[in-house]
Amino acid sequence: MTINIIVISDNFYKDAYKIQCEYLNNETYSDFLARTQGKNFYCISVIENLVVGVCYGSPKSSKTFCLEGIAVSDRFWGRGIGSKMLVFFEKQLKSRNYKQLQVGLPQNEQLENFYTKNGFIPLELVVREGEAEVTRTSIKNLKEAKKQVSELLKNAKQDLEVSFIFGKNLIP
Ligand SMILES: CC(C)(COP(=O)(O)OP(=O)(O)OC[C@H]1O[C@@H](n2cnc3c(N)ncnc32)[C@H](O)[C@@H]1OP(=O)(O)O)[C@@H](O)C(=O)NCCC(=O)NCCS
Repeated sequence: MTINIIVISDNFYKDAYKIQCEYLNNETYSDFLARTQGKNFYCISVIENLVVGVCYGSPKSSKTFCLEGIAVSDRFWGRGIGSKMLVFFEKQLKSRNYKQLQVGLPQNEQLENFYTKNGFIPLELVVREGEAEVTRTSIKNLKEAKKQVSELLKNAKQDLEVSFIFGKNLIP
């Protein structure tokens, strides 16, 4: 099974869009094309002409890049494809002089393991109520941060959405 990780090209947009809608955010096909076409920050994994993974993002600042989505078709999970896409993606960013890659994730142990395994460390805890950011605190210890989250959710009168920002320095 040969996996090719490439920057998306014309013949793969429709298949990549399907994966993105299934596992990540839903947007119209025209919005998807407007966001991705002509930009080098949308990578895909291809096995025998079949798109099995997507990985994309956008700049947060001149030095920091934000990974907005990464997904692999579920029948290919656990075979290293997600990690290989990250390596490819990071190379693209390094060649453009970005110093750090960041990603936001919900509280989910498998995802935390995926990013830790790939060299990311927890940086911040973010709490939102709808669109509004309620708090953003630095994380020194993930276990402690999770305790903080469960206390917060236990006492909260309103629906809060909690996410963690993980980051990886691209230049050692
Ligand atoms: C997260 C995701 C991209 C990982 O892709 P992958 O190709 O399975 O990742 P890899 O094979 O490179 O790494 C596997 C590691 O990731 C972790 N992992 C995360 N989700 C996993 C899953 N559903 N199944 C197996 N391992 C998973 C494990 O730590 C695993 O390591 P292990 O095999 O030593 O236990 C994939 O599970 C996915 O598409 N999930 C749905 C979309 C999603 O949640 N994206 C992240 C948004 S922040």
